[in-house]
Amino acid sequence: MQFTPLHPSFGAEVTEIDCNSNDQQSAEVLKEALTEWQLLLFRDQNLSDGAFLSFCRNFGQLELLPEPEKRHPDYPEIFNLSNVKPDGSLTHRDDPQAVFLRGTSRWHTDSSFREVPCLATILYAVTVPPVGGDTEFANMIAAYNSLSPEEKAEYRMKQAVHSYAYSRSTNPGKVEEMSAEQLAQVPDKTHPVVRRHDGDKGVMYLGGHVSHFAGEDIEESRTRVRELEERLTAINNVYRHQWRQGDILIWDNRSTLHRLTGYEIDKYARVMRRCTVSGSEPVLPL
Ligand code: OGA
Ligand code: MN
Repeated sequence: MQFTPLHPSFGAEVTEIDCNSNDQQSAEVLKEALTEWQLLLFRDQNLSDGAFLSFCRNFGQLELLPEPEKRHPDYPEIFNLSNVKPDGSLTHRDDPQAVFLRGTSRWHTDSSFREVPCLATILYAVTVPPVGGDTEFANMIAAYNSLSPEEKAEYRMKQAVHSYAYSRSTNPGKVEEMSAEQLAQVPDKTHPVVRRHDGDKGVMYLGGHVSHFAGEDIEESRTRVRELEERLTAINNVYRHQWRQGDILIWDNRSTLHRLTGYEIDKYARVMRRCTVSGSEPVLPL
């Protein structure tokens, strides 16, 4: 196995590996490499759905996502992230399926609105558009390190309110109102703004599910959160991944933000298989 950096501060392409043949020893190396590199890319892979699932299991327990209609019929832990409808036609950009996908075009870290957010997400590119549909990643360890000592101290004192209801309400597409019952399933959660990672590294833990800083004026702190996010995702802190069919990309949700970049969603198919690795610990402050 060889690791070649993707960006000056994070991410590696892993070569000399066939994800079909994952032995226990390589699995341990990869799990550690994910924490260290934050983002791992494997190119030119050719895996059956079952083999993809076995590969993903190396990284930990997998989550079952709530939308049953998007689950793989034989392997429910595999989620079909796709703009193709069951009849083979493409979704209209205002269909709920497309609106859901377009929602991922804001900087975020997956499931940060949960008490114990997920650890990592794995995408396997099955069909990619000829143009667009890249995914961008921002390094939140480098983001923390870029702050002044005063800012670091200030943010270490803060907690952020992560709210599914809020991020849904800011979706670029039109989403249906949630019922009181649905809202009760996803109550707001508060996490430290500076998270401890891999020993004593500090990480800025924000993203599109953050509504505001806890205990502060909502509108004012919301503006500050969005301004801060813009600074932390400055272009020199971002790796942009241009997908090729056969790519497997795994990112650490504890230490990165990500977003989908635009593509013509009602013109080109984009099909990804996705697995989500469960987290086991709450967000711990630095
Ligand atoms: C996700 C996600 C972005 C993409 O699956 O969580 O944000 O590029 N995907 O598909
Ligand atoms: Mn996501």
